[in-house]
Amino acid sequence: MKSTLQETDKKFLWHPYTQMHDYAARDLLIIDRADGLMLYDLEGRSYFDTISSWWCILHGHNHPTIKSFMHRQLDRLDHVHLAGTSHEAAILLAEKLIAITPEGLSKVFYSDNGSTACEVALKMSLQYWRHSGQAQRKRFIGLERGYHGDTIGTMSLGGVPDFHKEFAEILFASFTVPSPYCYRCPMAQNPETCRLECLQPLQDLLENEGENVAAMIVEPLIQAAGGMRIYPARYIKRLAELLRQYGVHLIFDEVATGFGRTGRMFALEHAGVTPDFLCLSKALTAGMLPMAATITSDEIYQAFYGAYAENRTFYHGHTFTGSPLAAAAALGSLQVFAEEKPLARLGATIAHLHQKMARFLDLPWVGDVRCLGMIAAIELVKDKQTKEEFTFAERVGWKIYLKGLEQGLILRPLGNIVYLWLPISTTIAEIDEITERTWRVLAAADNISGALCNKPHGIRVA
Ligand SMILES: Cc1ncc(COP(=O)(O)O)c(C=O)c1O
Repeated sequence: MKSTLQETDKKFLWHPYTQMHDYAARDLLIIDRADGLMLYDLEGRSYFDTISSWWCILHGHNHPTIKSFMHRQLDRLDHVHLAGTSHEAAILLAEKLIAITPEGLSKVFYSDNGSTACEVALKMSLQYWRHSGQAQRKRFIGLERGYHGDTIGTMSLGGVPDFHKEFAEILFASFTVPSPYCYRCPMAQNPETCRLECLQPLQDLLENEGENVAAMIVEPLIQAAGGMRIYPARYIKRLAELLRQYGVHLIFDEVATGFGRTGRMFALEHAGVTPDFLCLSKALTAGMLPMAATITSDEIYQAFYGAYAENRTFYHGHTFTGSPLAAAAALGSLQVFAEEKPLARLGATIAHLHQKMARFLDLPWVGDVRCLGMIAAIELVKDKQTKEEFTFAERVGWKIYLKGLEQGLILRPLGNIVYLWLPISTTIAEIDEITERTWRVLAAADNISGALCNKPHGIRVA
């Protein structure tokens, strides 16, 4: 069975963000079943899903409450399009999303993945300005190392060269400002001296171009795919003030951070900022099914509202927009929040995780450890003092991925960044086990390639 599946996979499947050549001489990891935090392969070997299956899984795999919501929905209505028709699950979910997001956000537009949630916000912002007598506002601002998806529009606002450089020639022009990358501060500050100098380029840009800008898109508190760059809430507060001053829309891309991962329901709560658009996906359904939502204000909505002949309609929609099954899964997840109250006990869990991560800084090839809620990232460096980076050719992340598998962990480093992105259901005992196994992988790192560290070390495997 296993070898047949392996062969069939290699014959017919092209995997995302994967160099298939890596698997010319080795097996793909075929997952057979899941339970809680664990994934099991065809031979019954278990692995901790330390990246929540691409940052989606929230309450553990196969949560019974969510499954029961989906079963009930499946017996009633499988699918109906949302253009002019509606259904109970989409309606109730919209009502609940408005109830848990900040005041001022009042309308939900569904789509089916994180990229489309962001595309919708960009297009709505642009069209809003056209309807509002400011058609010159057609430029967008993104952050260096920002990541909002893989569509042409979201790549145009993305700042991860490895992902986007092949497509650079066809992307639309946008403004990019420095990333708030505290470990390698672009303004040569440190946390004690930082006065948010990295926002000065944004202020300068707004002074010169503000009236031509429709919106700025940011991932609040953490640039995830761009390297798990965690930055302070006060940056977001100040950024929001600047954008308001110049009348520019603020789009929060909480595709990755939404639904508790940072310790609060939404990352924006840490800064007390309400954006003009809030983009959600991934954990919206707790990882059960694809779904996304772009939530906006009545002011934006009203600019599209008018007699048919006025031609203000938002001509955008995806076939599976507001899928009944996905909406039911999302309602199931919100039911878990209501019944199990995971956010109430999350503080202690998060404190434990952060405390467990501290010792990684003792390793000579760990330059930085940064944590936010259930997210913990380790930046590997060749040299702690100079912060010299491992090169693309050295590919340390791949070696760590392979070593992780031996320890029963699915780690998927982003370049030199090894990270944990844990479900909010993770227990203290599971954190102990995961961090211990991760320590084993990283403390023995010089044995993985012989290239991971350029000096001898005295760290013992605990
Ligand atoms: C912050 C952020 N925005 C958007 C996306 C794109 O989401 P999707 O892969 O569902 O299109 C991602 C995916 O990782 C993300 O992390």
